[in-house]
Amino acid sequence: MNAKATNTAQLVEFLRTELSPYYPEKEGNAIIFRLFEGILSYEQTDIVLNAESTVSKADQEKFENAVQLLKKKTPVQYILGYTDFYNVRINVDKRALIPRPETEELVDWIVKESGDQALRILDVGTGSGCIAIALKKHLQNAQVMGVDVSDDCIDLAKENAEANQVDVNFRVQDIVDRDGSAKLVQPETLDIIVSNPPYIQYKDRYQMDENILSYEPAKALFVDDENPLLFYKLISLLGSVALKKDGQLYFEINEKYGDEVVDVLKKAGYVDVEQRKDIHDRNRFVRGIKE
Ligand SMILES: C[S@@+](CC[C@H](N)C(=O)[O-])C[C@H]1O[C@@H](n2cnc3c(N)ncnc32)[C@H](O)[C@@H]1O
Repeated sequence: MNAKATNTAQLVEFLRTELSPYYPEKEGNAIIFRLFEGILSYEQTDIVLNAESTVSKADQEKFENAVQLLKKKTPVQYILGYTDFYNVRINVDKRALIPRPETEELVDWIVKESGDQALRILDVGTGSGCIAIALKKHLQNAQVMGVDVSDDCIDLAKENAEANQVDVNFRVQDIVDRDGSAKLVQPETLDIIVSNPPYIQYKDRYQMDENILSYEPAKALFVDDENPLLFYKLISLLGSVALKKDGQLYFEINEKYGDEVVDVLKKAGYVDVEQRKDIHDRNRFVRGIKE
């Protein structure tokens, strides 16, 4: 951008030109909108309504810095430092996975099935805390706990709970450590366990975008090629002890392994096991009830 004052329309043109070699048109437009929202608090229509408005030097600089990072494929959420998740603002940085829209569908399933009872909920692999915090915001009588193997994630989740003024009990716990996990909660005391665990096999990393592979934590994404269902098995076993009768176990899943996750739950003794599709018609969620 040159030194003279730039208006919104010229800025959009500049962003399109700069980003088009790096992002397909639709994705580029979505990113441009996110930048306007994050930097100028614009709604989509404001971009048109304010086409002739001058953008201050300081704001132009923010857009220019963002463009440089976007060219290096930095996710726009990390550049802006936040994402909106199920009506909750979640701060994000390289410490944790960026919450995904499909995970909002998992939260929505739980919220719609739960009344205003005093439920006890555990979120395993909480990352930024997005699921736990969104559930606490929408189910105010619930007691929510979130665990993660990563200290960094738990620090970020605590910061997010504070920013959203919710009381969630976050703590570090490696779910592979079965003795430690068993001590997390008393037997038969939980109403709901939810988890979006790591579920991508390392062998599939070549099909993934650079902006995910280079920036998001590997620990949040990948599971051993040899044992892709590890977390589903461990968390189902934890649920068999920790859930009350009729307690519910909710998972986000890799669409490749929907039937296998259903089998894991059935073998662990869950009933009414249901597989659900996301809005793109892909099998992405499983729920089972403890008998
Ligand atoms: C796919 S991310 C989900 C993060 C967040 N719940 C979300 O939906 O955006 C999986 C999370 O599981 C955590 N994790 C990986 N291995 C774990 C383990 N052994 N015990 C507990 N958490 C683990 C990762 O640190 C990561 O935060």
